[in-house]
Amino acid sequence: MSVGRRVGVWGALGGVVVVLAVAITATVGWRPLIGPAARPLTDRKFESTPARVERGKYMFTAASACIGCHSEWDRTIDGHPAKAGAEGAGRTWADENMPWLTAPNLTPDVETGAGTWSDDMFARAIREGIGHDGRTLFPVMPYARFAAMSDEDLASIVVYLRTLPAIRRALPKTKIPFPPGPLINSLPRPITAPVPAPDMSTPERKGAYLVRMAVCAECHTASDDRGNKLTRLDFAGGFPLPDATAGHTVTSVNITRDPSGIPYYDEALFIQTMRTGRVVARKLDDMMPWASYRNLTDDDLKAIFAYLQTVNPVKHLVDNSLAPTPCPVCKASHGGGDKNSASPRAAVD
Ligand code: HEC
Ligand code: HEC
Repeated sequence: MSVGRRVGVWGALGGVVVVLAVAITATVGWRPLIGPAARPLTDRKFESTPARVERGKYMFTAASACIGCHSEWDRTIDGHPAKAGAEGAGRTWADENMPWLTAPNLTPDVETGAGTWSDDMFARAIREGIGHDGRTLFPVMPYARFAAMSDEDLASIVVYLRTLPAIRRALPKTKIPFPPGPLINSLPRPITAPVPAPDMSTPERKGAYLVRMAVCAECHTASDDRGNKLTRLDFAGGFPLPDATAGHTVTSVNITRDPSGIPYYDEALFIQTMRTGRVVARKLDDMMPWASYRNLTDDDLKAIFAYLQTVNPVKHLVDNSLAPTPCPVCKASHGGGDKNSASPRAAVD
């Protein structure tokens, strides 16, 4: 083989590599191949104080609803709170049609829980999406939202988790199928600078932080078929939530103040709904985690309502009492879907 020919072959191969590189960079980037962006773990320790334990409990059980995702539910109780004695001990996502996903046992049990995880393993998992074992966490764990969690709130949650009774509960490990498989490696973002306390100077600003910590948009915003949130439909509902045990799928509703959303809410009705899981007499599906949010203080609920009043009103009717029909706005099929028209700005009727 002549030198020239060799160069030719390598040249052609180089071309392929270049084309591939361009294609990869333009679509999902290199992360699927080289692994997630992750910072090394530190040996930082969060000091336990009574104030932190209290704040951490509030975040875990009320404000961030961690408990609803990381515990088996008691379906015999209205609102499906965590089963007594199983708080924080994890659950699989079989009911949500993702049996391969497990929200792990976060209690300090050494063998089946988080007893051996360091403080920074927790910290990196919660805000940066890298599990204790270095794996990219599946984004059902809302680390992209928690990235804005203040250092103090983060420390409080970790300190609180250490106070949970150790519950021995072995669960299957998460096994992410392909796709998305390694494609999720592009999601983690290391945090290396301090995250200060949020701006709480007005109810709206405080509410913006709380809504993010409470991951309301995670459910109340529709996604495209690759799981990316459709920001033009922020808080306008359309995200399907399957519940295999209940035998149905409920779709999140529009909580903007557009006439197709919740224009009839005032602060008092909002607080009552979040506390009771009922809009006056109408019971909300238990997929709406009001069993957690009901523990929010009046002040925090008022702030959340104040913030929701500022979000862009979007025309998008979702009504779970109607039969599911295809919706031209969010592209899902849901109750009242056929009452919407393709432009989200157009009239509902
Ligand atoms: C919407 C559901 C949901 C919410 C809310 C949620 N989690 Fe998770 N979390 C998960 C799932 C699912 C996983 C597992 C992801 C995986 O295995 O890839 C997870 C993983 C984790 C991990 C990583 C464990 C490891 O392997 O290192 C920690 C720590 C954690 N969550 C803590 C929390 C805390 C603290 C909160 C509240 C601030 C919270 N989670 C809120 C669903 C949730
Ligand atoms: C796990 C998913 C999920 C999360 C997280 C969630 N919701 Fe909901 N929410 C739902 C579903 C589903 C419904 C519709 C229930 C029904 O139609 O019976 C709903 C209904 C509501 C309603 C009642 C609207 C009406 O019909 O009058 C309000 C208000 C509401 N949510 C506010 C919030 C706020 C505020 C947050 C964050 C603090 C939030 N939700 C977080 C799933 C969720």
